[in-house]
Amino acid sequence: MEPKTKKVQFTETILRDAGQSLVATRMRFDQFAPILPVIDQAGYYSVECWGGATFDVCLRFLDEDPWERLRKIKAAMPNTKLQMLLRGQNLLGYKHYSDDVVRRFVRASVRNGIDIIRIFDALNDLTNLKVAVEETLKAGAMASGTISYTTSPVHTLAKYVEMVKELEQMGVSTICIKDMAGILSPQGAYDLVSAIKDAVDLPVVLHTHCTTGLAFMTYLKAVEAGADVIDTAISPFSGGTSQPATETLQYALSEMGYETGLNGEALHKMADYFKTVRAEFLKDGTLNPISMATDTQCLTYQIPGGMLSNLISQLTMMHKMDKFEEALLETPRVRADMGYPPLVTPTSQIIGTQAVQNVLAGERYKNVGAEMKAYCRGEYGKTPAPIDPEVQKKVLKGDSPIEGRYADTLPPDVFEKAEKELGEKATCEEDVLSYIAFPPVAEKFFEQRRLKNANICDYTMVCG
Ligand code: CO
Repeated sequence: MEPKTKKVQFTETILRDAGQSLVATRMRFDQFAPILPVIDQAGYYSVECWGGATFDVCLRFLDEDPWERLRKIKAAMPNTKLQMLLRGQNLLGYKHYSDDVVRRFVRASVRNGIDIIRIFDALNDLTNLKVAVEETLKAGAMASGTISYTTSPVHTLAKYVEMVKELEQMGVSTICIKDMAGILSPQGAYDLVSAIKDAVDLPVVLHTHCTTGLAFMTYLKAVEAGADVIDTAISPFSGGTSQPATETLQYALSEMGYETGLNGEALHKMADYFKTVRAEFLKDGTLNPISMATDTQCLTYQIPGGMLSNLISQLTMMHKMDKFEEALLETPRVRADMGYPPLVTPTSQIIGTQAVQNVLAGERYKNVGAEMKAYCRGEYGKTPAPIDPEVQKKVLKGDSPIEGRYADTLPPDVFEKAEKELGEKATCEEDVLSYIAFPPVAEKFFEQRRLKNANICDYTMVCG
């Protein structure tokens, strides 16, 4: 019997996660537009190009309408599946939205060009994925049900398998393991992918970061265990806090007999192109060489790289860097008190900020922010393990935690209200959704757009 062809496919992250990880999402549309037709011919399973921080940054810093960016990418890449990252009930923001807003946002994303939505929740509370998954499938796109990977006494293989089965029940198209901190080890990946493959009959996608240096090995073992798709970044934007290099893995896996479907010549052109883009970011300082380095601290402290740099900047701002070691040790303690949430937006900020507060105040949970209170009230969802009841009591100060799903307590008319508030400033449903996600930022963007359009009109009039 002929041996079955071994196959593995690639998702390219250059247009989203690679840029988010290395250059704070500052890559403008015109910086990558010329190469889009080449990416379109490279043979990727999908190209991640939207969602995550791109939406916020487009509006806030790049003076780009994120929806228009998506439509332009779609027009330039008609042959490739476009993928986005969505924080479940949080959408692309940092709080929970009502179901009607989630449904509208998902529909608009698909309408504007998205083919695959990768949907995750910071706490792995799958009830926060349900509405987005349902609407994605209804809109005719693929829903990638995602587990946020972390390690803790409660995050066992059995627990992950249970989650994956629940996702299958929801009807997801694929399963994604999202290792945002790059802590998934080669053996860990082999065991996890094997267990998932045994439990469900769905393609498995693996997402990791090079931060700790494990990623290349982790991918190899995952592919050996049967992973169907891996996330990589074209070489000039690979490594460090970004994904492993596309070409390197394509080379190694091809040699091992895997069919990747990738076009080497297209990858070569892409690498040449993005080398010059990288040079621009190095020159203006946006790309800090430190983020290109390997940092194994994360394996020791279990704190993702991004969180570590936040910790340093918070303490530096307050001239309290002498408390760094203490804050570093306090972080996993706060995480344990909070029921071992995976450390990803927004839980990473909540836990990190609290650790700093605890150390600075000299008393634990004396100073507590609004987000921490909301977390302890259950507004972000069900925690992996129960929150320490003593701590919860101290944080809530007599307030009681909510029952059931937080989104069910939200008013259902958010969209209509926002539409009314905006009046003529909004020109379409997409504008209203941008406004709901980031109100002041979107309003400022609309105003600038109006002024720009007004100038264009005047110009036309003068020129006849
Ligand atoms: Co990532």
